[in-house]
Amino acid sequence: RSEKKDIYYEVNREAARFFYKALRFGDNPGLRYVAKRGLTKETLHEFGIGYADGEWNSLYNHLKSKGYDEKIMLKLGLISTSKGKYYDKFRNRVIFPIQNTAGKVIGFGGRAIGDDMPKYLNSQETPVFSKKNNLYGLNITKNYVNKEDCAILVEGYMDVISLYQGGVLNVSASLGTALTENQAKLLKRYTKNIVLSYDADNAGVTASIRGSEILYKEGCKVRILHISDGKDPDDFIKAKGKLAYYKLVDEAVDYGDYRIEHIKKKHDISTTRGRVDFLREIAVFLNTLSPVEADIYVKKVAQNYGISESALRLEMGQDAKAEE
Ligand code: CTP
Ligand code: MN
Ligand code: MN
Ligand code: MN
Ligand code: MN
Repeated sequence: RSEKKDIYYEVNREAARFFYKALRFGDNPGLRYVAKRGLTKETLHEFGIGYADGEWNSLYNHLKSKGYDEKIMLKLGLISTSKGKYYDKFRNRVIFPIQNTAGKVIGFGGRAIGDDMPKYLNSQETPVFSKKNNLYGLNITKNYVNKEDCAILVEGYMDVISLYQGGVLNVSASLGTALTENQAKLLKRYTKNIVLSYDADNAGVTASIRGSEILYKEGCKVRILHISDGKDPDDFIKAKGKLAYYKLVDEAVDYGDYRIEHIKKKHDISTTRGRVDFLREIAVFLNTLSPVEADIYVKKVAQNYGISESALRLEMGQDAKAEE
């Protein structure tokens, strides 16, 4: 326990409380926005969702009145300074406090209510916040992840919140698309079984490849869930409900099959050249698998694509004779 960090957690907690009260007090654009997105009062409370109004100094004045120093506010990225003046970083946004698994408020994500850019503004790296070492929502969901021995990993704040509100409780977000090794390690403390449920857009697919690879290398058992027609988990569960989403979880594809399918899409296997390139790339991929899994997939690929197992093993640099 670091005494020095305590003040940062304390000020973040006070900021979160301030934003939360601002959202719950009376009619305001933040409340109208979250209502439009279907969030219930219980959800707002559970996730501590808040509102930063459009003024320049609301949070600054509040924290100042509580006796906190500008230096700390600056360090936490809650305010900025320019020409000797201070102003709030988060304005005119819905606020998602980010907590670590110990329940400390470490940072914030703010979603634009209007068309302001960026769509999401996140806390900078601070003495208590490092995006690459944390997962959103896990402080709330870790017990469910543990109990189900499975985590559903999504991209965004709203994906976690909507799934949770919809009754899918074992969920967490990587805060953007690039899952890190440390995030995989953090998740693995609670379960090795991960269902990756990223957005159906191109960025989401690319991130699924990279993310599943990282999870696999950390020793997780990964499956990849696919949502059709460009939606994300938030859109999907609102439109189709919990049971439809669980059906997608059931249908999620094993890591190996997912990677092979993806490689297949890059080649025209109706031509000889395409088949050769496809199988070469498959051989490279199979070499990244554990021996047991590699063996299973060698047999599967050989059967499905009409190539001998021994040729595939040779391409992989394995001694075919020794194998058979
Ligand atoms: N993200 C971010 N900064 C951005 C865009 C996205 O940090 N400018 C992160 C956020 O954590 C966001 C996640 O990436 O939740 C997924 O991005 P995206 O799919 O674009 O946003 P959604 O979460 O679907 O946002 P919304 O439904 O509110 O439009
Ligand atoms: Mn309470
Ligand atoms: Mn997206
Ligand atoms: Mn969305
Ligand atoms: Mn999305």
